[in-house]
Amino acid sequence: MLVRLLYASRAVPAVDQEELLAILKKSKANNPAQGITGVLCLSDGIFLQALEGGRAQVNRLYSRIVTDPRHTDVQLLSYEEIGERRFAGWSMGQVNMARLNRALLLKYSETATLDPYAVSGSVSMALFAELVATASIVGQS
Ligand SMILES: Cc1cc2nc3c(=O)[nH]c(=O)nc-3n(C[C@H](O)[C@H](O)[C@H](O)COP(=O)(O)O)c2cc1C
Repeated sequence: MLVRLLYASRAVPAVDQEELLAILKKSKANNPAQGITGVLCLSDGIFLQALEGGRAQVNRLYSRIVTDPRHTDVQLLSYEEIGERRFAGWSMGQVNMARLNRALLLKYSETATLDPYAVSGSVSMALFAELVATASIVGQS
């Protein structure tokens, strides 16, 4: 029983590059033992994260993440049962925003900024899928 969960949140001002790396490091340390894979993106102060794995494990991790003081306004965008993983290669991959093709953002939204609060969950999911397909994800499993 696999599920994929997608949420958005607003990073608190104290979250800088160093803090982001700490979150990724912790994720890479914890997620493999729970069979969790996914991708995390931070752009313009907004986190977008996809988590996939067993239902119980994903639900448990999400409950923990929601209470993390490093972000606010956590909003569940999409939750679905899946037949196969989309981000199997990453215990927690990071979208390389420096290499992000802004045209890809424009393809899915009104402006070339990442704003998952302004678009549907399926649009954010489609954007993530394309980011992965165009190899803009960094960080090994
Ligand atoms: C945006 C964001 C994404 C996070 N993603 C993960 C994750 O994928 N895996 C994880 O274990 N912790 C993640 N965390 C950290 C958790 O909220 C929590 O601090 C951590 O899991 C605690 O782990 P510990 O009990 O081993 O210290 C994330 C935190 C934030 C703010």
